[in-house]
Amino acid sequence: MPLLEVNDVVVRFGGVTAVNQAGFTADERRITGLIGPNGAGKTTCFNVITGLQRPTSGSVRFAGRNVTRTAVHRRAKRGMARTFQRLEAFGSLSVRDNVRVALDISGGLGGLMRNPRAKVDQVLERVGIGEYADERADAIPTGTARLLELARCLVGDPTLLLLDEPSSGLDETETDAFGELLIALAAEGKAILMVEHDMDLVMTVCDDIHVLDFGEIICSGSPAAVRADERVQAAYLGSSDTPGTQHDLAPIDATTTIPAVL
Ligand SMILES: Nc1ncnc2c1ncn2[C@@H]1O[C@H](COP(=O)(O)OP(=O)(O)OP(=O)(O)O)[C@@H](O)[C@H]1O
Ligand SMILES: [Mg+2]
Repeated sequence: MPLLEVNDVVVRFGGVTAVNQAGFTADERRITGLIGPNGAGKTTCFNVITGLQRPTSGSVRFAGRNVTRTAVHRRAKRGMARTFQRLEAFGSLSVRDNVRVALDISGGLGGLMRNPRAKVDQVLERVGIGEYADERADAIPTGTARLLELARCLVGDPTLLLLDEPSSGLDETETDAFGELLIALAAEGKAILMVEHDMDLVMTVCDDIHVLDFGEIICSGSPAAVRADERVQAAYLGSSDTPGTQHDLAPIDATTTIPAVL
């Protein structure tokens, strides 16, 4: 049984169906991509998985249990950790203290641990931002802040990492290093579910990809299978006279590069 199972989830906001009968899984030792055009319902799926959004119908199973109605902090204690599309660090705290707070929240282990600072510094080194440990979080570059978000997740030793657009704000070199870090984390046993607009990154690191379009999963499979799928290409190309709906996926040049990039 996969670590995470999303079954037939529907989320309606008034008249808007943000997620429609979506079903997908994520599992240990795998990097799973959840992709789709702007507004497709990706973040709403993350909110349902983590408990910030109650689904209209459908269920979420995590580590063998139905957690559809389980509180956010209980899901976190069972091993879920997420990053947010909008950065959520405490600006006036140092980078180190931001991670320390996350450690304390994740089960109160910080109080019991003999050397919580060593644990925090080890995680900062792991994600490659050790040199920023004493900087205020509101004074660091966006790319570094993304890595700080990841460090805040990792410090609680989660089994499932949910990353919402983790590479936005990273430059090309940072993105390459980030991809390698994800692969290493998966090799150590973590399940990673990632919403990401950088198709090069998605196609390089993901083992499985699920594609959402207008709230529905239109394709699931390997990067090669997804790249070749006509519905996926159509969803990303969309209709060029409908701005702001389907086709404004950042890295895709709608005129020429779809087959190459996807
Ligand atoms: N709290 C809410 N109330 C009403 N509508 C919402 C709410 N949250 C999301 N929506 C709508 O649900 C749809 C899906 O939004 P969601 O944020 O999940 O998309 P997304 O795939 O994460 O998009 P993006 O790539 O732009 O981050 C959109 O039409 C959005 O406007
Ligand atoms: Mg989103």
